[in-house]
Amino acid sequence: MQRKIVVLGTGGTIAGRSDVAGANVGYTAGQIGVEQLLAAIPGLQRAAGGSLVAEQIAQIDSKDMDFDVWARLAQRCAAHLADPLVAGIVITHGTDTLEETAWLLANVLDAAKPVVLTCAMRPATALVPDGPQNLLDAVALAAEPTARGVLMVAAGVVHGAREVAKVHPLRLDAFDSGDTGPLGWVEAGQVRWAHGRAPQAAQPRHAGLLPVLGRGPWPRVEIVLSHAGSDGLLVDWLVQGGVGGIVVAATGNGTLHQALEAALARAVAAGVAVRVASRCPQGRMLDLHAAAWQDADGLSPVKARVSLMLELLSVGR
Ligand code: SIN
Repeated sequence: MQRKIVVLGTGGTIAGRSDVAGANVGYTAGQIGVEQLLAAIPGLQRAAGGSLVAEQIAQIDSKDMDFDVWARLAQRCAAHLADPLVAGIVITHGTDTLEETAWLLANVLDAAKPVVLTCAMRPATALVPDGPQNLLDAVALAAEPTARGVLMVAAGVVHGAREVAKVHPLRLDAFDSGDTGPLGWVEAGQVRWAHGRAPQAAQPRHAGLLPVLGRGPWPRVEIVLSHAGSDGLLVDWLVQGGVGGIVVAATGNGTLHQALEAALARAVAAGVAVRVASRCPQGRMLDLHAAAWQDADGLSPVKARVSLMLELLSVGR
């Protein structure tokens, strides 16, 4: 039996179309079906080393990503991973919330095979679109026997789900892994791992949640920024509104404006889970601040929010 690479489409700029010939901005994301995207790329079947199977999970601009799409995507990934003929999965996704989806999947999927997200910064109708090469690279990575876990590839660079972040609104290489650097590269269809070896996939912390995702509402978790002039009123308002958790994007090494700190103490006393992440895009906080708050384990605020929602879902089960 021939092995398969499954390509799950969710929309994004990679599937975007503009009415203005060749435009790189001002297009509409999520317009072209995943089958059509695959059909337009010569050599894709060869890169897959077997057959390609396309499935449209959603057709959205990823700024509008929601919990139903996340649940469906995670569950379809799990179903395909369980098929012994599937060698790997590719997900076409918008760039804007790709890192959140990647982190969600890394937390719920036991991915002994590669699950590779990819995207584009230019729509499919651009003069020189980046999507086709990214998709070709993603298929090569999904077919790579040493690859496993949730990965992403764009502009030839391979990143892991934990570190990857979109760092630029326009550049074709818009993603970065900060201090850790990339996991590898895809060069002319060949995967070259940084440090000469494939990274191991981390154990998912919340694999048990997979069947229940999509069955009920997700806990409400909001992100609050500590900044000059913070007054904490937003936190009080969230607590009154029944928020389940708050991730605070703190200054530097986890410090908080004193007014915000007082409001967060009131939130904790009211039973709200609070996690502290740094608003610095690089590095990792050292646990120097008072232990009143649980830190976000080095995650960015948006990924800390995903983790906290999953944690609250786990305890609510
Ligand atoms: C999106 O995130 O769906 C739109 C922007 C992009 O893919 O670059």
